[in-house]
Amino acid sequence: MGRRLYDPTDARRLLNPGAVSVVTTSWRGEVNAAPVAWTVPLSMSPPMLGVVLHPVRHTADMIRFSEEFALNIPGPELLRETAFFGSRSGIDENKIEGSKLDQFAALRVDAPLLDGCLAWIECGLRDVIPTGDHVLFVGEVIAVQALEEAYAERWLLEERNFSPLTFLGGTWYAQVREAREAEFEVDAQGGLMEESAEQREEREELEAEETELREQEGDEGYEEMLSGE
Ligand SMILES: Cc1cc2nc3c(=O)[nH]c(=O)nc-3n(C[C@H](O)[C@H](O)[C@H](O)COP(=O)(O)O)c2cc1C
Repeated sequence: MGRRLYDPTDARRLLNPGAVSVVTTSWRGEVNAAPVAWTVPLSMSPPMLGVVLHPVRHTADMIRFSEEFALNIPGPELLRETAFFGSRSGIDENKIEGSKLDQFAALRVDAPLLDGCLAWIECGLRDVIPTGDHVLFVGEVIAVQALEEAYAERWLLEERNFSPLTFLGGTWYAQVREAREAEFEVDAQGGLMEESAEQREEREELEAEETELREQEGDEGYEEMLSGE
């Protein structure tokens, strides 16, 4: 195992795996969609989140003018459409029409919501903060919807098609897959208790069984087994 020094800009790629969203916007009859990997929760009460955009993006202007936006969280079935939205600017074309995705009306904003996504977050713009060569758009969350198959207070990750995508960089994406529950104990000094040989063995056995079943049954067969079909 070798440690290597990387460029400071690699920090962004290392922190990437969060759900990719497609930002949709609407202004004076024009609509637009662009994927973003740089999103961040900022506050619980009121619920606020940040979207970091390069000022050259058409989406940045659309948000400034309309003072609202929506985040659409795609699953693997919209991998191609997500990459398509990120491959060109909406300044002089309607990318949503070009993607042939259906759209539906949002609850609280004019931006359209994209059919086929797993979850949708509607925001009103509260602040615009320059950060280096990008701009942080601070949105107050005013409506959230999610598919029951995908989300129930956490991503369920029970079925392949209902798991969010993360962005690795370039043309590479990954799927958030298995949900794992962290279990740990603390020793008398308040430190993290080491996993006992037995616990480790048990965990590794379970992981190996799961991998074997996945290989035997394929992803879909395995998920059907889990859901008892
Ligand atoms: C998966 C993915 C994630 C991206 N994340 C961001 C981001 O967080 N911020 C940003 O400014 N651009 C990001 N981009 C680039 C924009 O989506 C891309 O430049 C897009 O064409 C902008 O479209 P627009 O000009 O219509 O807004 C991302 C691209 C992809 C494919």
